[in-house]
Amino acid sequence: MTAQIIDGKAFSARIREKVAQEVARLKSDAGLTPGLAVVLVGEDPASQVYVRNKGRQTKEAGMLSVEHRLPENTTQSALVELIGRLNGDPDIHGILVQLPLPDHMDSDAVINAIDPGKDVDGFHISNVGLLGTGQKAMVPCTPLGCLLMLRDYHGSLSGLEAVVVGRSNIVGKPMAQLLLGENCTVTLAHSRTRDLPEVVRRADIVVAAVGRPQMVPGDWIKPGATVIDVGINRVPRDDGKSRLVGDVDFGTAAEVAGAITPVPGGVGPMTIACLLANTVTACCRANGLPEPEGLTV
Ligand code: GUN
Repeated sequence: MTAQIIDGKAFSARIREKVAQEVARLKSDAGLTPGLAVVLVGEDPASQVYVRNKGRQTKEAGMLSVEHRLPENTTQSALVELIGRLNGDPDIHGILVQLPLPDHMDSDAVINAIDPGKDVDGFHISNVGLLGTGQKAMVPCTPLGCLLMLRDYHGSLSGLEAVVVGRSNIVGKPMAQLLLGENCTVTLAHSRTRDLPEVVRRADIVVAAVGRPQMVPGDWIKPGATVIDVGINRVPRDDGKSRLVGDVDFGTAAEVAGAITPVPGGVGPMTIACLLANTVTACCRANGLPEPEGLTV
């Protein structure tokens, strides 16, 4: 068997198109322009690339994009003060503080200073609690993107066995909550899980989010399963350059799976698309307007 490829690049383009339509509708019907503020502290090169891409795609969708770049030695209280100003700014509907923050900052305290209604990352403790109790939350972008792809491919996920590998706050834990909300039977596996291959072999849906290059081989995959690969790992090539690989060994897994996301071009492009979607959702909620369908859960 050769798996169907779930094309995250094409799917994310459809999401961004829908976001742009909703932005146009908000402008014409309500005189509102959704606004996203991104805060970057320090000079981390990877973060700079992400922030640039976020700003570009925000503008392309017709939204207001505001960037705040602060020096590495910014104090936590100065950062929290900026967040307070953004919380009170009616033109800003979404606030994203790029992680990781410098070591002298307490990331949890900084994230929890964001107004939960503007927390488009879904990392604020209130949003974590709302998601965990099945209430309306801001949902973290990467797991939201994975779920939208799974829904698009499967329709109903009810009753399916889902195994999430990796228990991070950003992906693994919220992904497990979302799948539970879809009535999957969910296992949240991790580095200490006993007999991980056997656990993964039970799954109709595998979400790999461990950050270990090609850790999940094809012979862990149940024939016909759907595989969502969240990993983006840079590994050296024979010619001295590097290439991107996921947490799944794509070559062997694609022989067995029913459907699989590639790396690059799978989950990656969905994350920023969902950030834009969350900003539109936050703008609608803040103004008591109905939320667009298909952009959130
Ligand atoms: N750094 C890497 N991924 C993310 C993300 O999803 N949100 C934020 N704020 N920072 C990140």
